[in-house]
Amino acid sequence: MLSVSGTLFGRRPPHPTETKRHPTDRRNLAGQRAPVSLQSTVPCHHRYHTRGPSAAPDVHGPSSLSGPGHPPGSLVPGETLNKIPLALGMTPRVYGYLLEHIREPQVLRQLREATAAISGAHMQVTPEQGALLGLLVEVIGARRVVEVGVFTGYSSCAMAMALPPDGQLVALDRDERPLELARRFWQLAGVADKVELRVGPALQSLEQLLERDGLGSYDMAFIDKRSYDQYYELSLKLVRPGGLIAIDNTLFYGRVAEPKASDKAAIALHQLNVKLLDDQRVSISMIPIGDGMTLCRRR
Ligand SMILES: C[S@@+](CC[C@H](N)C(=O)[O-])C[C@H]1O[C@@H](n2cnc3c(N)ncnc32)[C@H](O)[C@@H]1O
Repeated sequence: MLSVSGTLFGRRPPHPTETKRHPTDRRNLAGQRAPVSLQSTVPCHHRYHTRGPSAAPDVHGPSSLSGPGHPPGSLVPGETLNKIPLALGMTPRVYGYLLEHIREPQVLRQLREATAAISGAHMQVTPEQGALLGLLVEVIGARRVVEVGVFTGYSSCAMAMALPPDGQLVALDRDERPLELARRFWQLAGVADKVELRVGPALQSLEQLLERDGLGSYDMAFIDKRSYDQYYELSLKLVRPGGLIAIDNTLFYGRVAEPKASDKAAIALHQLNVKLLDDQRVSISMIPIGDGMTLCRRR
């Protein structure tokens, strides 16, 4: 079943302003110097999004992944984050505020930092998306989750950490290379036992899961890769009535609103959005988080 893809990271084209940014470049994604207002005025009394000596102890033990020290409470999105929803009108200042007021476990922050150094880092879900996915797992009482598109494992970790001890997340990806980090962080996060990784083309893997586990055998699916419509249809079969399908990138950096004829990905996502609007098999909500995430509850 294992296969190693020869393709490169970064299948999703980066936003034009996201490219060639060195991890230590303090510019934001609009290419501007991070304004002083990005520096937090919030006292460093919590352990999220802070680096440096006053950050609270790492609940998962010391890590060699931490970057160089920064003033306590400093927040420089261009430096530590892989994707900022600027295309959706969020300002760096407000986004910085948002990040200071969500809970991102230390291990996920470390995974984000470790991912920032590798090609395709912009593909990772944002911290607030991770928090939402984890919360959704809790809200619907999910025990079985399937994820299409693992990359270095941020979203899978976030969901697996929210699953009960006997919960299971089946993680699908065809590219072995980023999975090395994913495996490492599943261990660090203490969720490795909950994750079943299947390496190979996701369509094939989903068909196999349908055959092995049957219709309606999952509580939730998270789709984070192209060919969304095909994955959506298969996920609808896998997820039970009342279960949830979360589809990432449905605003696609805003490009779905006016897709160019050559922008196949934006056109495909726009078509999916149009289809979902009328799809009576699900209740839906499109959320402007990350670059858009649509939640579909199977009726
Ligand atoms: C957007 S990334 C996933 C990001 C991940 N959810 C996270 O939070 O870091 C998409 C992933 O889908 C994988 N992928 C692309 N085409 C695939 C296919 N046909 N089958 C399975 N995985 C595929 C890529 O290797 C990539 O790791």
